[in-house]
Amino acid sequence: MIISGSIKDTRAQVKEWKKQGLTVGLVPTMGYLHEGHKSLIERARKENDRVCVSIFVNPMQFGPNEDLDSYPRDLERDSKICEDAGVDLIFHPEVSEMYGPNFCGFVDMHTLPEKLCGASRPVHFRGVQTVVSKLFHIMPADRAYFGQKDAQQLAIIRRMVIDLDFDIEIIGCPIIREDDGLAKSSRNTYLSSDERAQAVILNESLEEAMKAIEAGEKDADKVKQIITDKLNTCPLAKIDYVEVVSFDTIQPIEKIEGAVLIAIAVYIGTTRLIDNRIIM
Ligand code: PAF
Repeated sequence: MIISGSIKDTRAQVKEWKKQGLTVGLVPTMGYLHEGHKSLIERARKENDRVCVSIFVNPMQFGPNEDLDSYPRDLERDSKICEDAGVDLIFHPEVSEMYGPNFCGFVDMHTLPEKLCGASRPVHFRGVQTVVSKLFHIMPADRAYFGQKDAQQLAIIRRMVIDLDFDIEIIGCPIIREDDGLAKSSRNTYLSSDERAQAVILNESLEEAMKAIEAGEKDADKVKQIITDKLNTCPLAKIDYVEVVSFDTIQPIEKIEGAVLIAIAVYIGTTRLIDNRIIM
């Protein structure tokens, strides 16, 4: 397995594989890999001749009061996970390699980033789009794999690839959960044991919403109310948002029909967690 911090060497290696007629899968990550990332790598391994994983905690997608400095990092542990999973190349650049002196470009779009996480994290999706565009240029892969836990991110990247004509297929992969239903996330490591126990409320509230929808509920406001009521039973939960939107446009809808994203963001103590259901 190659570990490279150099844009030039990484690009040359991926181009060499492409020249040999090999297909390349890319799994972009910020490291501290968990089962969710492993499932993306496994899928990429099945569908491509070569697999690249990027590990880069991207400062551009963190707001001034967010957890950039405390975000968990452990390259040694991540490298072992990647090696065991059959990864061919880890791209692990320094911040100075990705954002050189006088860097002032960015990639952004209207509409899709404005609601949900974009409303409480105003610079976040601009940072994501910029770094993902750079990663796609550095590693011109055939396919890139993203988790559905970050559903708004997935919708934005899909849109960006269409709008900006990137020649790459975007594959969305299912959320991987702990045994009690909590969606796997690198940020779960911030939770105290009491918070960890109460964090299951996110998944439970979405389960209740899905039961109502399966029983015929079509009214988006009623679905939001079911989720809000359930979250409000949890003493440590503070709701950031509960939204029902079109999965294609990330705009609010009144009726549950077509491709629908039910998305929630909730603080458990000081840790902000997200979860969702996608109805296609
Ligand atoms: O989902 C993430 O881990 C990040 O937002 C991504 C896509 C790797 C960009 O930094």
